[in-house]
Amino acid sequence: MKSLYGVIGSPIAHSMSPLIHNDAFLQKGVDAYYHAFHVDPEELETAVAGMRALGVNGFNVTIPHKEAIIPLLDRVEDAALQIGAVNTVVNRNGELIGYNTDGRGFVEALKEVVKLKDKHVLIIGAGGAARAIFYTLALEEGVQIDICNRTVSKAEDLIKEFSLERIARSITVDQAAREIQRYDVVVQTTSVGMHPKINDIPLPLKSIKHHAVFSDIIYNPIETKLLQEAKSIGAITQNGIHMFAYQAALAFEIWTGKFPDTVRMKKLVEEHLGGKTC
Ligand code: ATR
Repeated sequence: MKSLYGVIGSPIAHSMSPLIHNDAFLQKGVDAYYHAFHVDPEELETAVAGMRALGVNGFNVTIPHKEAIIPLLDRVEDAALQIGAVNTVVNRNGELIGYNTDGRGFVEALKEVVKLKDKHVLIIGAGGAARAIFYTLALEEGVQIDICNRTVSKAEDLIKEFSLERIARSITVDQAAREIQRYDVVVQTTSVGMHPKINDIPLPLKSIKHHAVFSDIIYNPIETKLLQEAKSIGAITQNGIHMFAYQAALAFEIWTGKFPDTVRMKKLVEEHLGGKTC
């Protein structure tokens, strides 16, 4: 019998997950179908019970359910518990198990363009996405991480919560802008620069470190103002399509035991966004 997978969220109509997962099922010879389900917060519990009752094989979880789903699952992997968010659920013999592939997806994508050992990283932002990325980046050997956020206390709280004071510190956005030449890697996790405010930039850029890598998790527009400016002064840049593809690929692997072609996934997303971005 065909297996069934999906994604739950609200809004969900523009999700690109069905596109890349259904293509990956075909590519990998997996007899399965992936569907986007619109689920409002007040229906989350019923929706999860429905997934269980119908024997759905696995599903992704997106905004606004990543935190709220945790108590509804049978088990949650430690990393997802620490991050406080689940984006992937697998149904193993009736047991619903939660994972977080966002942080790992980001770091795997980043490793395609930079070796992280002993690197000095700046994370811009301290929201949900930053949380998953910070937790996962901190596992890399020798990394030093500065976090700058509009609300400084949120970055401070995050570092304290993960007990990462030894390798991380919170700084102001002004300080990060002044000292931007110190960073090997700059990770942009806020919504600043996202469509429709495509001319916004989270911090001004003057000179940057030679060979610095700038990674922005935004993919609409495909190239944010930050990435455009960083590229124009010599940075290696990476847009949010890379993280999106890798988090999906890792979810696919959890479900099927097979790792899909991420280059193909990125190409599909790029083609899909091609006509829509500004
Ligand atoms: P997500 O789950 O996508 O990370 P979030 O948890 O709401 O979303 O976090 C949004 C991040 O973008 C936060 O770091 C937020 O900064 P604050 O903590 O100060 O709110 C940041 N952000 C959003 N809009 C911003 C703006 N106009 N200027 C600067 N930072 C902004």
